[in-house]
Amino acid sequence: MFSVIVAGCGSIVNKWFENALAREDVKITAVVDPIEKNAVAHKERYGLNCPVFGNISEAFGKVEANLVFNTTPPAMHEEIIISALMNGLDVFTEKPLADSVEAARDIILAADETGRKCFVLQNRRYLYGIRTLRSLIEKEAVGKPFHISVDMLLGAHFTGFRNEMEHPLLLDMSIHTFDEARYLLGDVTAVSAYCQEYNPPHSWYRGEGAADAIFEMSGGTVISFRGSWIGRAENTSSHGRWTVSCGEGAAVWDGYRGVWLNEAQPVRPDAGYYEEEGLRREIALLRDGREEHDGCLDAMFNALKTGRAMQTDCHNNIHSLAMTRACIKSSVTGEKVML
Ligand SMILES: NC(=O)c1ccc[n+]([C@@H]2O[C@H](COP(=O)([O-])OP(=O)(O)OC[C@H]3O[C@@H](n4cnc5c(N)ncnc54)[C@H](O)[C@@H]3O)[C@@H](O)[C@H]2O)c1
Repeated sequence: MFSVIVAGCGSIVNKWFENALAREDVKITAVVDPIEKNAVAHKERYGLNCPVFGNISEAFGKVEANLVFNTTPPAMHEEIIISALMNGLDVFTEKPLADSVEAARDIILAADETGRKCFVLQNRRYLYGIRTLRSLIEKEAVGKPFHISVDMLLGAHFTGFRNEMEHPLLLDMSIHTFDEARYLLGDVTAVSAYCQEYNPPHSWYRGEGAADAIFEMSGGTVISFRGSWIGRAENTSSHGRWTVSCGEGAAVWDGYRGVWLNEAQPVRPDAGYYEEEGLRREIALLRDGREEHDGCLDAMFNALKTGRAMQTDCHNNIHSLAMTRACIKSSVTGEKVML
Protein backbone atom coordinates (compact mmCIF):
# COMPACT_ATOMS: atom_id res chain seq x y z
CA MET A 1 0.00 0.00 0.00
CA PHE A 2 1.23 3.50 -0.85
CA SER A 3 0.51 6.03 1.92
CA VAL A 4 0.98 9.44 0.37
CA ILE A 5 1.66 12.95 1.64
CA VAL A 6 0.72 15.45 -1.08
CA ALA A 7 2.81 18.64 -0.98
CA GLY A 8 1.49 21.51 -3.12
CA CYS A 9 -2.23 21.93 -3.79
CA GLY A 10 -2.38 24.19 -6.84
CA SER A 11 -3.52 23.33 -10.34
CA ILE A 12 -1.44 20.41 -11.65
CA VAL A 13 -2.03 18.34 -8.50
CA ASN A 14 -5.53 17.57 -9.81
CA LYS A 15 -4.03 15.19 -12.37
CA TRP A 16 -2.15 13.46 -9.55
CA PHE A 17 -5.21 13.11 -7.33
CA GLU A 18 -7.30 11.76 -10.20
CA ASN A 19 -4.69 9.10 -10.98
CA ALA A 20 -3.94 8.12 -7.38
CA LEU A 21 -7.51 8.02 -6.13
CA ALA A 22 -8.51 5.65 -8.94
CA ARG A 23 -5.97 3.13 -7.62
CA GLU A 24 -6.76 0.60 -4.93
CA ASP A 25 -3.21 0.59 -3.55
CA VAL A 26 -3.03 4.31 -2.69
CA LYS A 27 -4.35 6.26 0.27
CA ILE A 28 -3.73 9.97 0.82
CA THR A 29 -2.70 10.50 4.43
CA ALA A 30 -1.95 14.27 4.44
CA VAL A 31 -2.19 17.34 2.24
CA VAL A 32 0.31 20.17 2.65
CA ASP A 33 0.18 23.77 1.44
CA PRO A 34 1.24 27.02 3.14
CA ILE A 35 -1.97 28.51 1.73
CA GLU A 36 -4.42 26.62 3.89
CA LYS A 37 -7.45 27.28 1.70
CA ASN A 38 -5.70 25.59 -1.24
CA ALA A 39 -5.13 22.42 0.78
CA VAL A 40 -8.64 22.46 2.25
CA ALA A 41 -10.21 23.00 -1.19
CA HIS A 42 -8.51 19.86 -2.54
CA LYS A 43 -9.29 17.87 0.57
CA GLU A 44 -12.98 18.72 0.11
CA ARG A 45 -13.00 18.27 -3.67
CA TYR A 46 -11.66 14.74 -3.38
CA GLY A 47 -13.52 13.84 -0.17
CA LEU A 48 -10.31 13.08 1.71
CA ASN A 49 -10.26 12.14 5.36
CA CYS A 50 -6.78 13.36 6.31
CA PRO A 51 -5.07 16.20 8.15
CA VAL A 52 -3.90 19.44 6.50
CA PHE A 53 -0.44 20.89 7.21
CA GLY A 54 1.19 24.20 6.29
CA ASN A 55 4.69 22.68 6.06
CA ILE A 56 5.73 19.16 5.10
CA SER A 57 8.07 18.83 8.10
CA GLU A 58 5.00 18.99 10.36
CA ALA A 59 3.55 15.92 8.62
CA PHE A 60 6.57 13.60 9.01
CA GLY A 61 6.04 11.21 11.91
CA LYS A 62 2.47 12.40 12.50
CA VAL A 63 0.84 10.46 9.67
CA GLU A 64 1.53 7.08 8.13
CA ALA A 65 3.49 7.69 4.92
CA ASN A 66 5.94 6.01 2.54
CA LEU A 67 5.60 8.29 -0.49
CA VAL A 68 5.47 12.03 -1.20
CA PHE A 69 3.88 13.68 -4.23
CA ASN A 70 5.72 16.97 -4.78
CA THR A 71 3.62 19.37 -6.85
CA THR A 72 5.02 22.65 -5.51
CA PRO A 73 6.68 25.40 -7.62
CA PRO A 74 10.26 24.61 -8.73
CA ALA A 75 11.97 26.78 -6.09
CA MET A 76 10.59 24.51 -3.33
CA HIS A 77 11.54 21.17 -4.87
CA GLU A 78 15.00 20.77 -3.35
CA GLU A 79 13.86 21.33 0.22
CA ILE A 80 10.74 19.19 -0.03
CA ILE A 81 12.36 16.29 -1.87
CA ILE A 82 15.45 16.11 0.35
CA SER A 83 13.42 16.33 3.56
CA ALA A 84 11.14 13.54 2.32
CA LEU A 85 14.06 11.29 1.33
CA MET A 86 15.83 11.95 4.63
CA ASN A 87 12.66 10.93 6.46
CA GLY A 88 12.74 7.60 4.62
CA LEU A 89 10.05 8.30 2.03
CA ASP A 90 10.16 7.82 -1.73
CA VAL A 91 9.27 10.84 -3.86
CA PHE A 92 7.38 11.38 -7.10
CA THR A 93 8.00 14.97 -8.14
CA GLU A 94 6.71 17.31 -10.79
CA LYS A 95 9.31 18.55 -13.26
CA PRO A 96 11.77 20.18 -13.01
CA LEU A 97 13.66 17.97 -10.56
CA ALA A 98 15.10 21.15 -9.02
CA ASP A 99 15.84 24.69 -10.05
CA SER A 100 19.63 24.18 -10.27
CA VAL A 101 21.99 21.34 -11.19
CA GLU A 102 23.68 21.67 -7.77
CA ALA A 103 20.31 21.18 -6.05
CA ALA A 104 19.61 18.18 -8.28
CA ARG A 105 22.98 16.68 -7.32
CA ASP A 106 22.11 17.10 -3.64
CA ILE A 107 18.81 15.32 -4.27
CA ILE A 108 20.67 12.43 -5.95
CA LEU A 109 23.09 12.25 -3.01
CA ALA A 110 20.16 12.11 -0.58
CA ALA A 111 18.49 9.37 -2.64
CA ASP A 112 21.73 7.35 -2.76
CA GLU A 113 22.41 7.84 0.94
CA THR A 114 18.93 6.77 2.01
CA GLY A 115 18.32 4.17 -0.70
CA ARG A 116 15.00 5.86 -1.49
CA LYS A 117 13.69 6.65 -4.97
CA CYS A 118 13.02 10.01 -6.56
CA PHE A 119 11.19 9.87 -9.91
CA VAL A 120 10.34 12.91 -12.01
CA LEU A 121 7.01 13.44 -13.75
CA GLN A 122 7.97 13.95 -17.40
CA ASN A 123 4.54 13.34 -18.85
CA ARG A 124 5.53 14.21 -22.40
CA ARG A 125 7.64 11.04 -22.71
CA TYR A 126 4.29 9.27 -22.49
CA LEU A 127 2.64 10.91 -25.50
CA TYR A 128 1.84 8.41 -28.24
CA GLY A 129 3.42 10.73 -30.83
CA ILE A 130 6.86 10.90 -29.23
CA ARG A 131 6.80 7.20 -28.41
CA THR A 132 5.97 6.32 -32.00
CA LEU A 133 8.73 8.62 -33.23
CA ARG A 134 11.18 7.05 -30.78
CA SER A 135 10.40 3.54 -31.97
CA LEU A 136 11.18 4.65 -35.55
CA ILE A 137 14.51 6.18 -34.49
CA GLU A 138 15.40 3.20 -32.31
CA LYS A 139 14.96 0.73 -35.15
CA GLU A 140 16.70 3.12 -37.58
CA ALA A 141 13.69 3.08 -39.93
CA VAL A 142 15.38 5.75 -42.06
CA GLY A 143 18.95 5.29 -40.87
CA LYS A 144 20.87 7.00 -38.11
CA PRO A 145 19.72 10.42 -36.83
CA PHE A 146 22.05 13.35 -37.33
CA HIS A 147 19.79 16.34 -36.61
CA ILE A 148 16.60 17.11 -34.69
CA SER A 149 14.70 20.32 -35.21
CA VAL A 150 11.88 21.14 -32.86
CA ASP A 151 9.69 24.24 -32.95
CA MET A 152 7.42 24.95 -30.03
CA LEU A 153 5.90 28.31 -30.90
CA LEU A 154 2.93 29.44 -28.82
CA GLY A 155 1.16 32.45 -27.41
CA ALA A 156 0.87 30.99 -23.91
CA HIS A 157 -0.92 32.95 -21.19
CA PHE A 158 -0.68 31.72 -17.59
CA THR A 159 -1.58 33.15 -14.23
CA GLY A 160 0.83 32.74 -11.29
CA PHE A 161 4.56 32.17 -10.81
CA ARG A 162 5.52 31.84 -14.50
CA ASN A 163 4.67 35.46 -15.28
CA GLU A 164 7.13 36.75 -12.70
CA MET A 165 9.98 34.20 -12.69
CA GLU A 166 13.35 34.52 -14.43
CA HIS A 167 13.76 32.50 -17.67
CA PRO A 168 10.15 31.19 -17.62
CA LEU A 169 10.27 29.41 -20.99
CA LEU A 170 13.60 27.70 -20.38
CA LEU A 171 12.97 26.79 -16.75
CA ASP A 172 9.33 25.84 -16.83
CA MET A 173 8.74 24.43 -20.31
CA SER A 174 11.88 23.59 -22.25
CA ILE A 175 12.80 20.82 -19.81
CA HIS A 176 9.96 18.82 -21.43
CA THR A 177 11.36 19.31 -24.93
CA PHE A 178 14.99 18.68 -23.94
CA ASP A 179 13.99 15.58 -22.02
CA GLU A 180 11.99 14.31 -25.00
CA ALA A 181 14.95 14.94 -27.32
CA ARG A 182 17.19 12.86 -25.04
CA TYR A 183 14.52 10.16 -24.93
CA LEU A 184 14.31 10.09 -28.74
CA LEU A 185 18.04 9.47 -29.00
CA GLY A 186 18.18 6.73 -26.35
CA ASP A 187 18.77 8.95 -23.29
CA VAL A 188 22.02 10.44 -24.51
CA THR A 189 23.41 13.53 -22.79
CA ALA A 190 24.35 16.96 -24.15
CA VAL A 191 27.97 17.81 -24.92
CA SER A 192 27.47 21.53 -25.63
CA ALA A 193 24.76 24.18 -25.65
CA TYR A 194 24.42 27.57 -27.27
CA CYS A 195 21.32 29.62 -26.55
CA GLN A 196 19.84 33.05 -26.97
CA GLU A 197 16.80 34.09 -24.97
CA TYR A 198 14.72 37.12 -25.92
CA ASN A 199 11.74 39.06 -24.68
CA PRO A 200 10.37 41.71 -27.06
CA PRO A 201 8.38 44.71 -25.77
CA HIS A 202 4.97 43.13 -26.35
CA SER A 203 5.86 40.15 -24.08
CA TRP A 204 3.60 39.60 -21.07
CA TYR A 205 6.40 37.84 -19.16
CA ARG A 206 8.83 39.60 -16.82
CA GLY A 207 11.56 37.05 -17.69
CA GLU A 208 12.41 35.96 -21.24
CA GLY A 209 9.43 34.30 -22.89
CA ALA A 210 11.33 32.88 -25.89
CA ALA A 211 14.63 31.16 -26.71
CA ASP A 212 16.52 29.55 -29.58
CA ALA A 213 19.06 26.87 -28.64
CA ILE A 214 21.51 24.54 -30.38
CA PHE A 215 22.89 21.42 -28.69
CA GLU A 216 25.44 18.85 -29.68
CA MET A 217 24.60 15.52 -28.10
CA SER A 218 26.90 12.65 -27.23
CA GLY A 219 26.95 10.60 -30.42
CA GLY A 220 27.09 13.79 -32.49
CA THR A 221 23.43 14.54 -33.22
CA VAL A 222 22.69 18.28 -33.32
CA ILE A 223 19.44 19.58 -31.86
CA SER A 224 17.97 22.90 -32.93
CA PHE A 225 15.21 24.17 -30.63
CA ARG A 226 13.05 27.22 -31.25
CA GLY A 227 10.72 27.91 -28.33
CA SER A 228 8.30 30.74 -27.70
CA TRP A 229 5.44 31.54 -25.37
CA ILE A 230 5.03 35.00 -26.83
CA GLY A 231 3.90 34.34 -30.40
CA ARG A 232 0.72 36.08 -31.50
CA ALA A 233 -0.21 33.75 -34.36
CA GLU A 234 0.94 30.70 -36.36
CA ASN A 235 1.21 28.47 -33.32
CA THR A 236 2.63 24.97 -33.44
CA SER A 237 1.22 22.25 -31.20
CA SER A 238 2.09 22.87 -27.55
CA HIS A 239 4.12 19.65 -27.85
CA GLY A 240 6.20 21.16 -30.64
CA ARG A 241 6.74 20.04 -34.21
CA TRP A 242 9.56 17.50 -34.54
CA THR A 243 11.69 16.61 -37.56
CA VAL A 244 14.41 14.03 -37.07
CA SER A 245 16.77 14.03 -40.06
CA CYS A 246 18.47 10.70 -40.63
CA GLY A 247 20.93 9.21 -43.10
CA GLU A 248 18.16 7.66 -45.24
CA GLY A 249 15.33 10.15 -44.81
CA ALA A 250 13.47 11.87 -42.01
CA ALA A 251 10.97 11.00 -39.30
CA VAL A 252 8.38 13.61 -38.38
CA TRP A 253 5.86 14.13 -35.58
CA ASP A 254 3.58 17.13 -36.07
CA GLY A 255 2.96 17.44 -32.31
CA TYR A 256 -0.62 16.28 -32.74
CA ARG A 257 -1.58 12.82 -34.03
CA GLY A 258 0.48 12.76 -37.22
CA VAL A 259 3.70 10.74 -37.49
CA TRP A 260 5.33 9.94 -40.82
CA LEU A 261 8.51 8.82 -42.44
CA ASN A 262 9.95 10.58 -45.43
CA GLU A 263 12.10 7.95 -47.10
CA ALA A 264 15.02 9.12 -49.25
CA GLN A 265 15.04 7.86 -52.84
CA PRO A 266 18.13 6.64 -54.71
CA VAL A 267 20.46 9.49 -55.65
CA ARG A 268 20.64 10.17 -59.43
CA PRO A 269 24.36 10.48 -59.98
CA ASP A 270 24.17 11.95 -63.49
CA ALA A 271 21.33 14.45 -62.99
CA GLY A 272 23.44 17.54 -62.25
CA TYR A 273 22.07 19.81 -59.54
CA TYR A 274 18.72 18.68 -58.19
CA GLU A 275 16.95 18.69 -54.81
CA GLU A 276 16.05 15.37 -53.34
CA GLU A 277 12.44 14.52 -52.54
CA GLY A 278 11.60 11.73 -50.14
CA LEU A 279 8.61 9.44 -50.29
CA ARG A 280 6.17 10.07 -47.45
CA ARG A 281 4.72 7.12 -45.53
CA GLU A 282 2.19 7.64 -42.70
CA ILE A 283 2.87 5.69 -39.52
CA ALA A 284 0.11 4.44 -37.20
CA LEU A 285 0.50 5.65 -33.60
CA LEU A 286 1.73 3.14 -31.05
CA ARG A 287 -0.88 3.21 -28.34
CA ASP A 288 0.60 1.13 -25.54
CA GLY A 289 -0.31 2.21 -22.02
CA ARG A 290 -1.86 5.53 -21.10
CA GLU A 291 -0.67 8.99 -22.14
CA GLU A 292 0.65 12.05 -20.29
CA HIS A 293 0.40 12.21 -16.47
CA ASP A 294 -1.46 8.91 -16.21
CA GLY A 295 1.13 7.10 -18.33
CA CYS A 296 4.05 8.48 -16.32
CA LEU A 297 2.40 7.94 -12.93
CA ASP A 298 1.43 4.37 -13.91
CA ALA A 299 5.09 3.71 -14.79
CA MET A 300 6.33 5.29 -11.56
CA PHE A 301 4.03 3.20 -9.36
CA ASN A 302 4.96 0.12 -11.34
CA ALA A 303 8.69 0.79 -10.95
CA LEU A 304 8.35 1.38 -7.21
CA LYS A 305 6.33 -1.83 -6.80
CA THR A 306 8.58 -4.05 -8.86
CA GLY A 307 11.97 -2.42 -8.20
CA ARG A 308 12.47 -2.09 -11.95
CA ALA A 309 14.28 0.97 -13.35
CA MET A 310 12.25 4.10 -14.02
CA GLN A 311 13.30 6.10 -17.06
CA THR A 312 12.69 9.43 -15.29
CA ASP A 313 14.64 8.53 -12.16
CA CYS A 314 16.54 11.55 -10.75
CA HIS A 315 19.87 10.01 -11.88
CA ASN A 316 18.67 10.22 -15.48
CA ASN A 317 16.63 13.37 -15.24
CA ILE A 318 19.48 15.58 -14.03
CA HIS A 319 20.87 15.42 -17.59
CA SER A 320 17.72 17.09 -18.95
CA LEU A 321 17.91 19.75 -16.26
CA ALA A 322 21.60 20.28 -17.13
CA MET A 323 20.53 21.17 -20.71
CA THR A 324 18.16 23.81 -19.38
CA ARG A 325 20.74 25.31 -17.04
CA ALA A 326 23.41 25.29 -19.78
CA CYS A 327 21.02 27.24 -22.02
CA ILE A 328 20.49 29.84 -19.32
CA LYS A 329 24.25 30.14 -18.77
CA SER A 330 24.90 30.44 -22.50
CA SER A 331 22.19 33.06 -22.92
CA VAL A 332 23.48 35.12 -20.01
CA THR A 333 27.17 34.92 -21.02
CA GLY A 334 26.67 34.94 -24.79
CA GLU A 335 28.98 31.93 -25.04
CA LYS A 336 28.73 28.28 -26.02
CA VAL A 337 28.66 26.13 -22.85
CA MET A 338 30.38 22.75 -22.63
CA LEU A 339 28.61 20.26 -20.37
N1 LIG B 1 4.16 18.15 -16.09
C1 LIG B 1 3.42 19.18 -16.51
O1 LIG B 1 2.89 19.18 -17.62
C2 LIG B 1 3.20 20.34 -15.59
C3 LIG B 1 2.17 21.23 -15.85
C4 LIG B 1 1.99 22.29 -14.94
C5 LIG B 1 2.85 22.42 -13.86
N2 LIG B 1 3.87 21.54 -13.68
C6 LIG B 1 4.81 21.67 -12.57
O2 LIG B 1 4.10 21.42 -11.36
C7 LIG B 1 4.60 22.26 -10.32
C8 LIG B 1 3.44 23.07 -9.76
O3 LIG B 1 2.85 23.82 -10.79
P1 LIG B 1 1.33 24.38 -10.66
O4 LIG B 1 1.02 24.95 -11.99
O5 LIG B 1 0.42 23.37 -10.08
O6 LIG B 1 1.58 25.57 -9.61
P2 LIG B 1 0.51 26.30 -8.69
O7 LIG B 1 1.09 27.63 -8.35
O8 LIG B 1 -0.86 26.23 -9.29
O9 LIG B 1 0.47 25.38 -7.37
C9 LIG B 1 1.55 25.24 -6.49
C10 LIG B 1 1.01 25.04 -5.08
O10 LIG B 1 2.13 24.74 -4.23
C11 LIG B 1 1.94 25.45 -3.00
N3 LIG B 1 3.20 25.57 -2.30
C12 LIG B 1 4.15 26.55 -2.40
N4 LIG B 1 5.16 26.30 -1.55
C13 LIG B 1 4.85 25.14 -0.91
C14 LIG B 1 5.50 24.37 0.10
N5 LIG B 1 6.69 24.75 0.60
N6 LIG B 1 4.91 23.25 0.55
C15 LIG B 1 3.70 22.86 0.03
N7 LIG B 1 3.02 23.56 -0.92
C16 LIG B 1 3.60 24.67 -1.39
C17 LIG B 1 1.31 26.78 -3.45
O11 LIG B 1 0.70 27.45 -2.36
C18 LIG B 1 0.35 26.30 -4.50
O12 LIG B 1 -0.91 25.97 -3.93
C19 LIG B 1 5.74 23.07 -10.95
O13 LIG B 1 6.96 22.44 -10.72
C20 LIG B 1 5.40 23.05 -12.43
O14 LIG B 1 6.55 23.21 -13.26
C21 LIG B 1 4.04 20.50 -14.53
